[in-house]
Amino acid sequence: MSEYILEISNLTKDFPGVRALDNVSLKVRKGEIHSLCGENGAGKSTLMSVISGVYPKGDYQGKVLYKGHETSYHNVKDSEKEGLAIIHQELALSPYLSIYENIFLGHMETKFGVINWSRYIAESKKFLDTVGLNEPPETIVSKLGVGKQQLVEIARALSKKAELLILDEPTSSLNDDESEKLLNLILEFKKQGITCVMISHKLNEVLEIADTVTVLRDGKSIISYDVKNEKLTEERIIRDMVGRDLTHRFPERKSRPGETIMEVKNWTVYHPDYHTIKVVNGVSFHLKKGEILAFCGPMGAGRTELMMSLFGSSYGFRSEGELLLNGKKVRLRSSREAMDAGLGYISEDRKNLGLILIQDVKTNISNSSLKRFSRFGIVDTTGEIREAEKFRKELNIRTPSVDQLARNLSGGNQQKVAVSRTLSVNPDIFIVDEPTRGIDVAAKTEIYNILNDLVATGKSVIMVSSELPEALGMADRIYVMNEGKIKGELSHDEATQEKIMHMALVGK
Ligand SMILES: Nc1ncnc2c1ncn2[C@@H]1O[C@H](COP(=O)(O)OP(=O)(O)OP(=O)(O)O)[C@@H](O)[C@H]1O
Ligand SMILES: [Mg+2]
Repeated sequence: MSEYILEISNLTKDFPGVRALDNVSLKVRKGEIHSLCGENGAGKSTLMSVISGVYPKGDYQGKVLYKGHETSYHNVKDSEKEGLAIIHQELALSPYLSIYENIFLGHMETKFGVINWSRYIAESKKFLDTVGLNEPPETIVSKLGVGKQQLVEIARALSKKAELLILDEPTSSLNDDESEKLLNLILEFKKQGITCVMISHKLNEVLEIADTVTVLRDGKSIISYDVKNEKLTEERIIRDMVGRDLTHRFPERKSRPGETIMEVKNWTVYHPDYHTIKVVNGVSFHLKKGEILAFCGPMGAGRTELMMSLFGSSYGFRSEGELLLNGKKVRLRSSREAMDAGLGYISEDRKNLGLILIQDVKTNISNSSLKRFSRFGIVDTTGEIREAEKFRKELNIRTPSVDQLARNLSGGNQQKVAVSRTLSVNPDIFIVDEPTRGIDVAAKTEIYNILNDLVATGKSVIMVSSELPEALGMADRIYVMNEGKIKGELSHDEATQEKIMHMALVGK
């Protein structure tokens, strides 16, 4: 048998107005970890969807050989039967079902029409142990954070006896610690002979575990590197991805913080379901005009919950404490009130970015600021288009037009639309939760540039970031959180990765 488990030749896939894949050829060796890199919209997810039967044969041109045979899947189920498992960029779990139901959904066996639940609960425990998820199998999935949901997806793939595991940006919602664990898990799979294809924008991770790296650009396969035999660097991958050198990943900072615009005193937030648990516990901090603040800390530190509760009580059963804007005490009871008070929020959750996927790009961008685009209740479409076109250019949103439905955009480009929408509202305080998740290196720099320009005009930014280099590169001050509390504060000049991690664990 061939040493390759997967051989793709001359694959082309068109969508209306877009050639997503353009004559792609690529080979994946049996048992290797093969990384796929490329800018947002380069065609990575589409390629994986073709391989796994999301797009059935006839929907594309070219040839896909899996285990030596040409594939002709009608749907994903067909490919699963052959040991091919894909974990999509947007997690696809059923939120209201339990962990074990999600793991075995669609492939439970019945005996005389009866499902042996206790057997599946016991079996799911085995898979949860393998992926290192320490939760009762009966837990409802929506109660888990994104990182843990990711592990459930992997457990599900394992339960189907995957031989080729495709992971589309598996670490994008994980912090460094969690990512490290997941990467180790992938290395462990490799030892067991499972082949992995991993799509990632985190090039350091790619270099850490990949045996082969393939770069896609504009739907074309540009090059494949054998990592063992070549001295591959992040810069080299970026050059192939972007087609040019990218010199400054973090632009020069322009901020000159002024007076305090926001003050939070002794802020406590109670868990939405377990009303006595304090998810955020007595947090106090302040934000100045023209300042970028970063909140760092491990997953579950309470950063997102803190920001959401400040943004018009969007999280929590109840919150206590004081919020002052420009020295005045305010109570914001809804996100609408928060926006009216000058706050803007970009959510960390891809699925809940607030995008309306069945609407087009321009409507999504103008949605939160429709007042500006309407006169006497009628939407000024020209203004709307102009605004959308501006962001499309600034953030390089890849779409044939701003009339394209948001759901047809690649993951990273949807994120850019969400960022544009909040920018379009033009608030005084931007709360951005993982603003560059799933965004390619070049587009990240564009977003950093925009944040820098904002603070240069006196706006303020609060950034929740799990990427420490990003926090270190961008923030004037960093608050370190853990277990719902602020453990310490560091200025731009004194902050280092080590200090942040140390502070999160042991405090000052
Ligand atoms: N269903 C669809 N209809 C129309 N166009 C689509 C559809 N799915 C993808 N595209 C387009 O195909 C191109 C490739 O998209 P794809 O999702 O494969 O990119 P990607 O490399 O995974 O990007 P990202 O890093 O942002 O996830 C993009 O231009 C996208 O807009
Ligand atoms: Mg993608």
